[in-house]
Amino acid sequence: MKKIIAIIAAALICLGASADEGMWLLPLLEQLNGKSLADAGCRLTPDEIYSINHGSLKDAIVHFGGGCTGEIISKDGLLVTNHHCGYSSIQGLSTPEHNYLMDGYWAMNRAQELPVPRLTVTFLVSMEDVTAQLEGLEDPNPVRRELRKNAEEANPGCHAQITSFYNNNVYYLIVYKTYSDVRFVGAPPASVGKFGGETDNWMWPRHTGDFSMFRVYMAPDGSPESYSENNVPLAAERHLKVSLKGVQKGDFTMILGYPGRTQRFQTAAQLQQMIEVQRIAVDARTIRQDIMWEAMCADPDVQLKYANKYASSANGWKKWQGEELAFAKLGIIDREKEKEALFMKWVNKKKPRKEKYGDALDRIASYVEASDEAYKAMRLVMEAPWRIELVGLLSAMSAYNRNNPGASAKTALGAIMGQYRDYVPELDRKEAAALLKFYRDRALEKDYLNDLGGGFDDFATIDIDAYVNYLFENSDFVDPKYIEDALTDDPDAIFTDPVTKLFASIYNVYRTRLSEYNEAMEGYDDAVKAYTAGLLEWQKKQPMYPDANSTMRLTYGHVMPYNPKDAVQFSFFTTLDGVMQKEDPTNPEFIVPAKLRALWEAKDFGRYADASDGKVHTCFLTNNDITGGNSGSPVLDADGCLIGLAFDGNWESMSSDVMFEPALQRCICVDIRYVLFLVDKLGGASHLIDELDFAE
Ligand code: ARG
Repeated sequence: MKKIIAIIAAALICLGASADEGMWLLPLLEQLNGKSLADAGCRLTPDEIYSINHGSLKDAIVHFGGGCTGEIISKDGLLVTNHHCGYSSIQGLSTPEHNYLMDGYWAMNRAQELPVPRLTVTFLVSMEDVTAQLEGLEDPNPVRRELRKNAEEANPGCHAQITSFYNNNVYYLIVYKTYSDVRFVGAPPASVGKFGGETDNWMWPRHTGDFSMFRVYMAPDGSPESYSENNVPLAAERHLKVSLKGVQKGDFTMILGYPGRTQRFQTAAQLQQMIEVQRIAVDARTIRQDIMWEAMCADPDVQLKYANKYASSANGWKKWQGEELAFAKLGIIDREKEKEALFMKWVNKKKPRKEKYGDALDRIASYVEASDEAYKAMRLVMEAPWRIELVGLLSAMSAYNRNNPGASAKTALGAIMGQYRDYVPELDRKEAAALLKFYRDRALEKDYLNDLGGGFDDFATIDIDAYVNYLFENSDFVDPKYIEDALTDDPDAIFTDPVTKLFASIYNVYRTRLSEYNEAMEGYDDAVKAYTAGLLEWQKKQPMYPDANSTMRLTYGHVMPYNPKDAVQFSFFTTLDGVMQKEDPTNPEFIVPAKLRALWEAKDFGRYADASDGKVHTCFLTNNDITGGNSGSPVLDADGCLIGLAFDGNWESMSSDVMFEPALQRCICVDIRYVLFLVDKLGGASHLIDELDFAE
């Protein structure tokens, strides 16, 4: 008997070690992961990865623009991230005459590095567990304020924040330093950086050169000032070394970055609701995206203006569809229910546990049920009528204040004007009609948008096309010139604009539903906190990592192929040959630049080809545990040298935010050698290669 138990335990440990699941918290690496990091093959100690006492690897990693990860790769603040992370910045700098998005761009010297308005990068300074200081306080706010104030005084130029982990069971005080002079250095053309487009997105085999480069600037005294001509390149405390060795199956890899959100602690009831709510979004976005896509294909100007709006909508849209499919295929809800049954069995064994956790699952389920209608109604409003761009333009006017018309009108004007750059009223008019029809089909009658002005009072019966024509013919918001005049002469005119009526009606529905929702959810956080605490206690012999919450994490694992389905084997890497195989000049997603083809034909690969086969390897797979927000994260070898950038997940495991899938879940990475080949050979920017430090 003892022997059997020992064998099972050994098997479990093996499973644990090879599964490579987990988005680990940096301050806990030593305690939770020290040994297993080394066993997995890492040659750095936890202290070399994260330390608050001396420089460490984490000092080279940044939160890029708030939604992605980037890493510093030269002592002069050169930064690399994904192309899709730089996408909106690159689009913002592009014009039909200088279309950096479509044609690519390389600054050939520092003067050609282009400032990106409003783009920031943030470094992590330190993290400290402050749960004990906050626990049990009736009003924790004064203590929170004090903790932040002290941290900011101790770290000039930094900002502090308190973030909760494990669903409010643990709190950390986190100190960050943000730089706001970030300049665009270069990127390949979209035909390389976004090769495969939406068709290949979330899929393997992949051949995307998904990277772009920026540089962080600072004031001459080292402080993080906003853009100024006098600013100088960041004197980086730490930058990553680059390895050109490439990867072998089974190699150790680790990724440091900023995963955004996961749902690994959610119950079956919550997950079921999540899938249903995402379906609402998928249906609404299908309608909007089809209209955008048609207009984009017909006119290159529209294509540039809507490139980012389309890509960001389509990314979630495809993810949620994959997630729904994976839920069904992998039996996610049933597996979650099985886990819950085991948990309840454990809970019910001991009275104190029963008291603490006994009703948590039922309580969560009743909250989900009680809030369901309101929650779905809100999402429907947000994904349909609220997506009419005229409504978004009106929202940009929120700074306008009747009591202070002069100054506030000026601020509002500033906020709204930038948005017209990417606005096509004719396209919006089509979207508006389709979204309102969709909304009328789907919404409950009590959520109808009544009293829209112009005699369009009863939403149930109005002619939506006629209403939309009325809206677009009478609203000042269709044209920046009208808005400029209105804001200068008579800003109050916005209050009688038809779009204001539409917004009032939308907002009224939203607000009513929101207060219903809040009422139904009172006490919800406590139930979730209790359930999470129960899970932690249940699994206390096993290290548990918290859900992703846009804080820096480490995931480690190995280079690994997979079997997507019966009889099919996917290799762990792709090559430039595959780019040429996918080439399709008639499909905008699969165009190959002539120069790339010529380099491939001439085998002009420089030092970037793989030693084993003489080919340029484009992308590779690992089993690292990542999610959105990790995009652009460095993939590091056992010595912490840069071997690639993480940029996607794979179709067969789209439920990965909810449950890690050892056999199927992979992280898709672009090989750093492909990145440098593109910089050097395709872009001709060898001066950037000269800035790098290579591992010998
Ligand atoms: N799926 C990637 C992520 O969420 C983004 C890829 C962007 N590319 C695209 N074709 N939309 O990180």
